[in-house]
Amino acid sequence: TGMVFAQTLPKLAAKSTYRVGFAQTESNNPWRLAQTKSMQDEAKRLGYQLVYTDAAGSTAKQVADVRSMIAQKVDVIFLSPREDKPLAPVVKEARNAGIPVILLDRNIDPALAKAGTDYVTFIGSDFIKEGQRVADWLIKNNKGKMNIIELEGTTGSSPANDRKKGFDDAIKKAGGFKILASQSGDFARDKGRQVAETLLQAHPDANVIYAHNDEMAIGAVSALEAAGKKPGVDVLVLSIDGGKEAVKMVVDGKMNYVVECNPRFGPEAFKTLQGYAKGTKYPAKIINQDRDYTPQTAAAGLSSAY
Ligand code: AHR
Repeated sequence: TGMVFAQTLPKLAAKSTYRVGFAQTESNNPWRLAQTKSMQDEAKRLGYQLVYTDAAGSTAKQVADVRSMIAQKVDVIFLSPREDKPLAPVVKEARNAGIPVILLDRNIDPALAKAGTDYVTFIGSDFIKEGQRVADWLIKNNKGKMNIIELEGTTGSSPANDRKKGFDDAIKKAGGFKILASQSGDFARDKGRQVAETLLQAHPDANVIYAHNDEMAIGAVSALEAAGKKPGVDVLVLSIDGGKEAVKMVVDGKMNYVVECNPRFGPEAFKTLQGYAKGTKYPAKIINQDRDYTPQTAAAGLSSAY
């Protein structure tokens, strides 16, 4: 009919309790388990009902999960979008159904959905900065002739895009480094191990592995050991996430540097929900603070790593 409706964020009533959806992407690693636990703990503490779904690594399932939450008329949807494009339509469907969406940890392509219009806000880490921090450590600890293998996260996910951009741009700017190969290991341990194995065979001169998350870095450590190389010594291993297992490897000298990606979302997520119900205006992004673990600080940080 040619009529155009102004599309604005749905209001959220101030209530003493809420039924809240949380659409998780997968549960195959400690980071995801820590994030889920943080959400469940906070919902429980507040006495809110949490409608939890696990897309088990399938973007199509996550789309269906969000649609099911819309059909169940939950009050709010927390979404960690597995990929940054295919979830954009359901964010708008929720908005059109009167359900505010808050993005957690992963982002939607800003060309496809907008904070303040399609969803309330994004809460999560600055993934570009995480990649930059890894590059900065490497530049500072440059031993000359550094040949890098990069293990990328899930293709089409905002952390894979941004951790690559942050790292690659900083490395290029510094000069004198070579990225020999960059390939996806899907943020998974075994895939990371397999890809590292293949790339190490093709590039025997590699002396740095930069993995976009701990799981792939731990897989790369196994690949290095299987190839008879000393991880952390013959080949530097650098990672992002900061789970206990990886931090322990920094303590043991098998990894060299890990930037934390803070998975403790519960308190900030629910505080934002409550603030939104009271009419608080939020910026497009609420950025989590991340620590890091160096050979000098890892031992002290181990006990508080997730
Ligand atoms: O979106 C954050 C990333 O997703 C974490 O680094 C990774 O471990 C998880 O699967």
